[in-house]
Amino acid sequence: MGKEWTVHNPGGSRRVIVTKQLPGNRWLDMLVAADCAVEVCESDDVLSVDEIKERIGDRCDGVIGQLTEDWNADLFAKLAAAGGTAYSKYAVGYNNVDVAGATAAGIPVGNTPGVLTETTAEMAVALTFAAGRRVVEADTFMRAGRFHGWLPTMYMGTRFYGATVGVIGCGRIGAAYARMMVEGFKMNLVYFDLYRNEHLEKFVDDYSQLLVAHGEDPVTCRRLETLEDVLRVADVVSLHTVLDDSTHHLINAERLAMMKDDAILVNSSRGPVVDEVALIEHCRTHPDFKAGLDVVEDEPDMKPGLVGLDNVVVVPHIASATVWTRQGMATLAGANVAGILQGYPLWQDDDVLPFLEGEAPQATPSIVNAADLGDL
Ligand code: DGY
Repeated sequence: MGKEWTVHNPGGSRRVIVTKQLPGNRWLDMLVAADCAVEVCESDDVLSVDEIKERIGDRCDGVIGQLTEDWNADLFAKLAAAGGTAYSKYAVGYNNVDVAGATAAGIPVGNTPGVLTETTAEMAVALTFAAGRRVVEADTFMRAGRFHGWLPTMYMGTRFYGATVGVIGCGRIGAAYARMMVEGFKMNLVYFDLYRNEHLEKFVDDYSQLLVAHGEDPVTCRRLETLEDVLRVADVVSLHTVLDDSTHHLINAERLAMMKDDAILVNSSRGPVVDEVALIEHCRTHPDFKAGLDVVEDEPDMKPGLVGLDNVVVVPHIASATVWTRQGMATLAGANVAGILQGYPLWQDDDVLPFLEGEAPQATPSIVNAADLGDL
């Protein structure tokens, strides 16, 4: 059966399709102001390539798509053939988008960075603590009416204060997580990234001096040579890489075996960065090891065995799910598409906040292939 679609501003001279309902109104106002008729799919089901192609039809100017859809070269060719010139994802990560295919079709690919940095990092912190302090296990215990009195050894977990946090991938979100863990819990930081994060290193150094000036122990920040070096020394390892061929199953059985037996692994990047079968086996054989997962390998499914593990906390890919953030993502996606359609310059700028309220700049906030399209 066909999906239901709602059409806003049906008289608009441009046609934009939006493959899921989005929160807030600003994104829609921006598209309407750009003279777009906006067709929104009302179904929660993931749209297949064929369903999106069918909806694009013979004429479509732009699309806002989702991370659950397969935006392959063929789909971009279809959009271009329908006269389409604009596409934005409603997400920062674009591993499901064939950017080269989009570029070949002449279509800019928008994404939504900046608004979800702290929000996603906060969820990584929440998962770190939920796993390390056994919050879900203990909650389940309470609800089952099994608490019959305080005991000295009940649900003992990890002490974070002064321990070592490892960050793999120290870009925007990884660095925000690192700062939260260092500032909040005086953890020492080790990180692995192809690039040095000088800003973060300086911050930790300045913060350390402040602590010392107040009579507290210093904290340290070290960029280690290899991923394995981080895995060996960290008490908590949080993953913040993109997903591509080089990071698929980055955390596998061999690397899990390098981690401390009572370490915590947190993944709020993309599920396939971790070999989930290997993780399940590792958690089974290492009951003191813990994992906090915002993402799983075969979303929405969990690999067999994950569900029965008390030492794993898992949530359904909600790290960016706060009202402010999800509305901000919608605004950026809307601004990307409206900006392209109005011929505004393509930006790849981190400072997206000016788009969120008041009069937005006459630009497209974030286009990942702007340079390839010759616009930067
Ligand atoms: C993203 O933006 O890539 C997240 O996974 C969803 O917010």
